[in-house]
Amino acid sequence: MSRRIVLAYSGGLDTSVAIGWIAEETGAEVVAVAADVGQGGEDLDVIRQRALDCGAVESVVVDLKREFAEEYCLPAMRANAMYLERYPLVSALSRPVIVKHLVAAAKQFGADTVSHGCTGKGNDQVRFEVGIGALAPELSVIAPVRDSGMTRDKAIAFAEEKGLPIDQSKRSPYSVDQNLWGRAVETGFLEDPWNAPIEDLYAYTSAPGSTSDEVVVSFTDGVPTAIDGTAVSVLDAILELNRRAGAQGVGRLDMVEDRLVGIKSREVYEAPGAIALIAAHRELEDLTVERDLRRFKFQVEQRWTELVYDGLWFSPLKRALDDFVDSSQQHVTGDVRLRLSGGQAVATGRRGSGSLYDFELATYDTGDTFDQSLAKGFVQLWGLPSRIAARRDLRA
Ligand code: ARG
Repeated sequence: MSRRIVLAYSGGLDTSVAIGWIAEETGAEVVAVAADVGQGGEDLDVIRQRALDCGAVESVVVDLKREFAEEYCLPAMRANAMYLERYPLVSALSRPVIVKHLVAAAKQFGADTVSHGCTGKGNDQVRFEVGIGALAPELSVIAPVRDSGMTRDKAIAFAEEKGLPIDQSKRSPYSVDQNLWGRAVETGFLEDPWNAPIEDLYAYTSAPGSTSDEVVVSFTDGVPTAIDGTAVSVLDAILELNRRAGAQGVGRLDMVEDRLVGIKSREVYEAPGAIALIAAHRELEDLTVERDLRRFKFQVEQRWTELVYDGLWFSPLKRALDDFVDSSQQHVTGDVRLRLSGGQAVATGRRGSGSLYDFELATYDTGDTFDQSLAKGFVQLWGLPSRIAARRDLRA
């Protein structure tokens, strides 16, 4: 049997050409692996067949939607993960689940190398390669677009020369990556950060208008378990909120982002379900998580998010922080009512069995059980170090 290489296959021009390109450059057989992470679009059987038509010896499509929802999107929601306080890690989350299945395919088909179609300028090359190294350090990686001069022009020429079944007219003028958790759009006229996004860019959201919707999201120990009282899986919760929040224009983002490779890039995102779920989850944490745990978790959330953004999903620190986040979710049980309107998801009500809100302590009306006489001494001792320091500073 000749040497085999597993290729992360999307069905687009670059990875279709990569099949023949890799075979010519290395003499190896190419096994194409396409992952369904909820990106929609083209039929996956069509994509599977295209890989064979382009010369792959084996072509598989793996349905990762449920696994992606439960093991990748859910931990991100529990960590309220938003890079630079805004971007819910859409692409950064899908890479590790794809990596896991590329590595499994390499074992299954006896490949010693994995290949991806990323350029050398983005984060995704890092996520693929660092992830593969963390799961299977014995595998090699090749990246034809980055390392062996497979430029766009050469790819098109190669496709024409070999008569590959690629329809150039269907090409988007942007670089788009999308999955269950959202959609990322870059390049084209967006490369001038002064250019405003146009309505054409969006596919998961409608333009925010004057309509509105209201939805109750219920959580059990930090897992979304019902929407408007109907039990849902994590996958269904995401899909349903993509639809409901997307219809109200929730989750559109236009930002300049710091990539790991040092470049600032202009990105447009839409992530209606992710943004709505995180808004609801945060709100319930405010109600149910003890003060110091909540305050400390903010730091953990930021670090967790940066690790995942930077391609370190399978790292020891990320694993340890997962344990912290999991333990923080024990009592995050209850309901949040969200108002979806004008592009915003705003909580207007929260309640639950995990609540730490004590009406009798909080009220300013009759029924108050808070002993205000204790506050006087507390405040004096709390401020004691500052008073001592102030006296010293005055003496000096
Ligand atoms: N900048 C985002 C990230 O690093 C999105 C990348 C999208 N990838 C793409 N090929 N368009 O997570």
